[in-house]
Amino acid sequence: MNIIEIIAKKRDNKELTKEEITFFVKGVTDGSIPDYQTAALLMAIFLNGMTDRETADLTLAMADSGERVDLSSVNGLTVDKHSTGGVGDKTTLIAVPIAAALGAHTAKMSGRALGHTGGTVDKLESIPGFSTAIEPDRFIDIINKTGAAMIGQSKDIAAADKKLYALRDVTSTVESIPLITSSIMSKKIASGSDCIVLDVKCGSGAFMKTSDDAQKLAQAMLRIGKMCGKNITALITNMDIPLGNMVGNTLEVIEAVKVLKGEQKGDLYDLCIELGANMYSLTSSKPLEECRTLAVEAVESGRAFEKLKEIVSAQGGDVSYLDDTSKLERSRYCFEVLSECEGYISSINCEAVGHVSNMLGAGRQKKEDTIDHSAGIELCKKTGSHVNKGEVLARLYTNNKEKLEASQEKYLSAIVFSDKQPECEPLIYMILN
Ligand code: URA
Repeated sequence: MNIIEIIAKKRDNKELTKEEITFFVKGVTDGSIPDYQTAALLMAIFLNGMTDRETADLTLAMADSGERVDLSSVNGLTVDKHSTGGVGDKTTLIAVPIAAALGAHTAKMSGRALGHTGGTVDKLESIPGFSTAIEPDRFIDIINKTGAAMIGQSKDIAAADKKLYALRDVTSTVESIPLITSSIMSKKIASGSDCIVLDVKCGSGAFMKTSDDAQKLAQAMLRIGKMCGKNITALITNMDIPLGNMVGNTLEVIEAVKVLKGEQKGDLYDLCIELGANMYSLTSSKPLEECRTLAVEAVESGRAFEKLKEIVSAQGGDVSYLDDTSKLERSRYCFEVLSECEGYISSINCEAVGHVSNMLGAGRQKKEDTIDHSAGIELCKKTGSHVNKGEVLARLYTNNKEKLEASQEKYLSAIVFSDKQPECEPLIYMILN
């Protein structure tokens, strides 16, 4: 078999066989296929798509490209949650402790920032001492002891995805249904949880911009999850507005703590209650409505925040930074973006907001880049707000002063004003299972 012929076949929009897909994934994993040929095939898949059969074969080949985690020694059914990626999406930091406080055993494996979207591992690493690189035995011990652990996807899990993910990030081949499906589901299948809650984002800040594409992605992932015997639910949620008010790693940890302490309500809180309730419902088989009530109680009673501290402490993190988030490192520069007009914000280009956050240092432009944990954006006005000329729209945080001017311009160009108040869009479009 020959990789050049495989690339040409997909370039010509033909269906690849299971053997060709397995050959490709093996070659990516053992390094025998160089990055430039992998990138070429990724672009061909991006442009021409894959059939359901090809996507399932790619997912299973990727799941088999590394180790499979055996969670059978966890005392009870395990649940994992995965978001397809958004801007300001810090739901793992909130929904996982909520579900764990209710009694769901949560085995959460996360990734790093991808494209314009943030990554949970980068966010968690803003907490001093917190380790996301944890051996499987310790991962299971922590879940049995605290109810949850949040770790980075080890290089041994779906090994091919690590390489493909990094290459897609720098070749503009992220927004593809078969590539996203295989990336997420290979990891979910290899990481061994019995139940999975998917948060499929839809809108300008998501990889899927339209409801049609988001539904196709959700359905593809549900089909593959069920084929592999998983108890799985997918929520399709709004990513036309950044979630919450903070974008950027440390800033998002600060906001997550506020939500868990019951100090911030709104879109982020509502979505985390829904995700936590769905996670608990899958493992407990209790009705969703009852799980929602229990999830609210877990936050209001402070149990969910205590649970976050237990998990952080078990993973080596210094919980004094959660008790007092003002101790977390802040950026040297803070710049206020002022409105140049008066009116209602009718839309915010969420993807552009993600790019501004990356420009400020919160994400990577090249796969070798290191990130500035303290960089990011505080959104002071979101879609639907009325704004006067000169009012603060956002605060930009960075350690790189030179990035401020371009970031400000890009931020302003992401905002559209109107004389009329726009209609409020739903936060959760649908729940599929
Ligand atoms: N999250 C993933 O893990 N993979 C993708 O391709 C997109 C989001």
